[in-house]
Amino acid sequence: MARLVIVSNRVPDASEATGPRAGGLAVGLADALTPGTLWFGWSGRRGRQTTTEPAYAEFRRLTYATIDLGEADYRAFYLGFSNGTLWPLFHMMPNLTSFDRAEYAVYREVNHIFATALLPLLRPDDLIWIHDYQLLGVAAALRALGVHNRIGFFLHIPFPAPAIYEVLPPARELLSGMLANDVIGFHTERDRWHFLNTVNVILGIDATADNVITHAGHSTQVIVTPIGIDVDGFTAQAVRAARRVATKRMVESLSGRTLMIGIDRLDYTKGLPARFDAYQRFLANYPEHRHHISFLQIAAPSREEVDRYRALRKDLDNKTGAINGAYSDFDWVPLRYMTRTVSRSLIAGFYRTARIGLVTPLRDGMNLVAKEYVAAQNPADPGVLVLSRFTGAAAGMAEALQVNPLDIDAVAEAIGAALAMPLEERQMRHAALLERLRHESAKAYCDAFTASLRGANH
Ligand code: G6P
Repeated sequence: MARLVIVSNRVPDASEATGPRAGGLAVGLADALTPGTLWFGWSGRRGRQTTTEPAYAEFRRLTYATIDLGEADYRAFYLGFSNGTLWPLFHMMPNLTSFDRAEYAVYREVNHIFATALLPLLRPDDLIWIHDYQLLGVAAALRALGVHNRIGFFLHIPFPAPAIYEVLPPARELLSGMLANDVIGFHTERDRWHFLNTVNVILGIDATADNVITHAGHSTQVIVTPIGIDVDGFTAQAVRAARRVATKRMVESLSGRTLMIGIDRLDYTKGLPARFDAYQRFLANYPEHRHHISFLQIAAPSREEVDRYRALRKDLDNKTGAINGAYSDFDWVPLRYMTRTVSRSLIAGFYRTARIGLVTPLRDGMNLVAKEYVAAQNPADPGVLVLSRFTGAAAGMAEALQVNPLDIDAVAEAIGAALAMPLEERQMRHAALLERLRHESAKAYCDAFTASLRGANH
């Protein structure tokens, strides 16, 4: 069978065997790949200049080939155009979006370097699968270098509505570049709909009837395949983790109180300020639960050199102080807020002991934390997932308590409803969610995408 070549900006760190963080593209994919796969991407290291000779590592029977980014490229490509322009715009937050023509030039250049460094590693029948917004231009760069392999692309973040996408100064160029792929995949129908409509508005091609875009003599098939997790593997990890000393210490520290948990990257798309406000509203409106609940929010620092992320951190520090100042007692702290990365294997145990999983992003391409929380539960006494409607995960999780994250009263009520939910209802909802998770597993996701890529008109 043809070899699979994965290309993504972030690759799992071979030195952190259990995976450094919950959710995230690198972790989700790592669960599903077959041995022999080559994974090409950024090493996570910064040097004087971007390297073009990859370094190799073996990890979980996959081969990793990585290049380092030069400091200037890191700033313009990663912090600048990828995370200062595309990230907020694609999450439909144009007011947080900045644009700098010079940064975009570097983004194009780095995408080109990815293609050039990958070129000598390619075999003629390799299936090339590129991931995410940092690498929108890699397929076109590979084609320009004469690569005729099947190339697919998957976007892990939302694709914005046309009226938002068109704000991007190089909107047309990036879009037609994406059409150098044979297959483009999204997590939800909404993202595909936005994409097809954008192609219609900007390039004048109507592909809404058959999801096949023909442009410059080449066809691109647009598919929806939601990413999942290895359910049984994660459940087993949660059972093991729940027995660990660290989990037991955490449970003891609760002194019998109910645990509510939130796990996110420290990112403004995750809706953390509104989540903290909702918790405060809950404490105000449900006095009977004070002293009996403890909310543990773990927020892993991310992209700290981008101003917005620093501002968010300050805001959350203030809100934490305000909540704990107003409601703490000498023997109870309502909010435990940690800005640290905690290993996924330990978090699995925390999920299992938490009665409520609070996942309330303003926008999210998928959100694997929601899926991990469900997989980690004890089916005999499962917790309740409170989930934002605006995550990709919500499309397949009707039995979660779905909320609009901006409506802090509604989120406060959902917390109240989750605490009051009878065991039987919790079991029913959990069983239905788990059943669907098994269907939409990490492996099913990889199989579905690669099958489309293999079968694509080429
Ligand atoms: C999201 C994105 C990924 C990204 C990850 C972590 O999951 O979809 O592409 O790798 O966040 O962000 P970072 O900037 O640290 O790679």
